[in-house]
Amino acid sequence: MDPRRNPYAPGAGTPPPELAGRDEVIERAAIALDRIRAGRSARSIILHGLRGVGKTVLLNHMRLNAEARGFASARIEVPEDRSLPAILAPALRTTLFRLRRLEETKAGLQKAMKALAGFVSALKVKYQDIEVSLDLAPERGLADSGDLDTDLATLIAAIGEAAAERDTAVVLFVDELQYVPEAQLAALIVALHDASQSELPVSMVAAGLPQLIGRTGRAKSYAERLFEFVRIDRLDEAAAQAAMRVPAEREGVHFTDGAIELILRQTLGYPYFLQEWGRHSWNVAAASPISRDDAERATSDAVAELDTGFFRVRFDRLTPSERRYLRAMAELGGGPHRSGDIADRIGRRVTGVAPVRNALIAKGMLYSPAHGDTAFTVPLFDGFMKRTMPEP
Ligand SMILES: Nc1ncnc2c1ncn2[C@@H]1O[C@H](COP(=O)(O)OP(=O)(O)OP(=O)(O)O)[C@@H](O)[C@H]1O
Ligand SMILES: [Mg+2]
Repeated sequence: MDPRRNPYAPGAGTPPPELAGRDEVIERAAIALDRIRAGRSARSIILHGLRGVGKTVLLNHMRLNAEARGFASARIEVPEDRSLPAILAPALRTTLFRLRRLEETKAGLQKAMKALAGFVSALKVKYQDIEVSLDLAPERGLADSGDLDTDLATLIAAIGEAAAERDTAVVLFVDELQYVPEAQLAALIVALHDASQSELPVSMVAAGLPQLIGRTGRAKSYAERLFEFVRIDRLDEAAAQAAMRVPAEREGVHFTDGAIELILRQTLGYPYFLQEWGRHSWNVAAASPISRDDAERATSDAVAELDTGFFRVRFDRLTPSERRYLRAMAELGGGPHRSGDIADRIGRRVTGVAPVRNALIAKGMLYSPAHGDTAFTVPLFDGFMKRTMPEP
């Protein structure tokens, strides 16, 4: 069928044609933010889940939603190798400019801008990757001690006061939060905690891999009471059906039940894979309805494309010993697996392979769902490892 009309949208953070199965979590986040704006207590939200389940798409949806409802948002995507101050400072600067547009300058906003200036000038020495232009001179003694914990708390408080002055709330929307180094994550948690204790309208909605739960807990033991952790998972059957059928039906195209059944079995309902299978099924089908045969052909096209793209880019970043570790895991199946069983397969002791396992967790390839367990963060990666390294 006409690829120009193909509605499916596989990609990182690409909005899907139908955001299926997420109404409840969207409503939950909206309630939390409204409560914070109204000066009531609500926990910040952390969305966690595997690669390609739709965390970024959800976070962006919630942010646009909040902006439409008059919240001041800051959009932050954490890269693997930069400091938190370096990525926070420019994002918060943009947020303060947005707040300024809401109303002519009030004292609180001036103070927040000066706090940002203090924060940046004091921390430049330690975090040399900070690059942001300043709009006001720092004020001596305001967020300029050079200690991240205190300065970030002061800055976040000043931003909260500026938001309160305008009857709104500032919300940090942070993606890939697991990449923030633990000490810097601790500083962020403390700052948010202080703001919430002072009933200031500042909150965070963050997203990241499952290792976030352990990381935040290690950074600050009270994190679990400060945050609401929401697991974002593959879609259940009804939602996965909707994700496939609704976009096609808008174009007057249908799937046979056999096609849907095959696609759900192949993708296990993982959103990114659903988009890939939808796109390929549409492209191979000659006409509506998309049949089981079409879905069958789409499967080989989709797998071939994943093997040279989605899976491959992750594989290319691995060292030979990391590959060996993942290959041994794949031999055991989809997982999670006991770390001891994986080590046995490699013929080493658990302690001997611990550095490799830790490196894979740091790279975001693995996580530990429970003590002593190890699992892939990328769905269906076990099958890929077997295809790409046929010999265990
Ligand atoms: N609820 C949904 N229904 C249908 N498709 C979805 C849904 N959520 C996400 N998708 C699709 O899944 C793909 C992956 O989404 P996204 O990039 O948000 O995942 P992610 O969890 O952020 O992945 P990563 O951990 O790799 O960053 C996109 O192509 C998106 O269109
Ligand atoms: Mg993402």
